[in-house]
Amino acid sequence: MHQDVEGIMFSKEQLQTRIAELAAQLDSEYAGKTPLMVGILKGSVMFYADLLRAMTIPVEMDFMAISSYGAGSKSSGEVKLIKDLDRKIEGRDVIIVEDIIDSGYTLSYLKRMLYSRKPSSVKICALLDKYSRRVVPIEADYKGFDCEDEFVIGFGLDYAERYRNLPYIGILKRSVYEK
Ligand code: IMP
Ligand code: MG
Repeated sequence: MHQDVEGIMFSKEQLQTRIAELAAQLDSEYAGKTPLMVGILKGSVMFYADLLRAMTIPVEMDFMAISSYGAGSKSSGEVKLIKDLDRKIEGRDVIIVEDIIDSGYTLSYLKRMLYSRKPSSVKICALLDKYSRRVVPIEADYKGFDCEDEFVIGFGLDYAERYRNLPYIGILKRSVYEK
């Protein structure tokens, strides 16, 4: 375990098992369709890559980059678009793939923005849900795990851009961010 990690919340094995279940659910609910999988950079990359590899229906890939956090551990409520999609989404079935829903600011902003482009549907697939911290009412349509109110890192999730490459979801020691 990394020295800055207090404990493991979801192991490599738990993540892969749950991701396979989510992939099977998406395969059956989107059978006969080719959903556009929109990965939200950078936190979703590990989840996105594993989820798409576990799916068997045809999918297309695109990415957006959004920032709401800066370098801290609390959401600012301010959401900024850093990279937009490459293609039009009119008439498409869009699935937003996100690492974690916290306050909900990021996804409610994104969902509103994507809906205005007249897609056929927009659904949210989030690996983690910190439901107790929600400020804006928004729900994941597909969710990996509920997550306690702890600052978590690894499997794509960062603190100040670090720890994204840990293969598990771990709880960051408070001493790292409460200085
Ligand atoms: P929201 O806009 O408050 O819902 O925040 C969503 C974004 O905040 C996520 O995409 C993450 O990048 C980041 N975030 C929220 N909670 C955590 C956490 O515990 N660890 C790392 N990043 C987090
Ligand atoms: Mg993120």
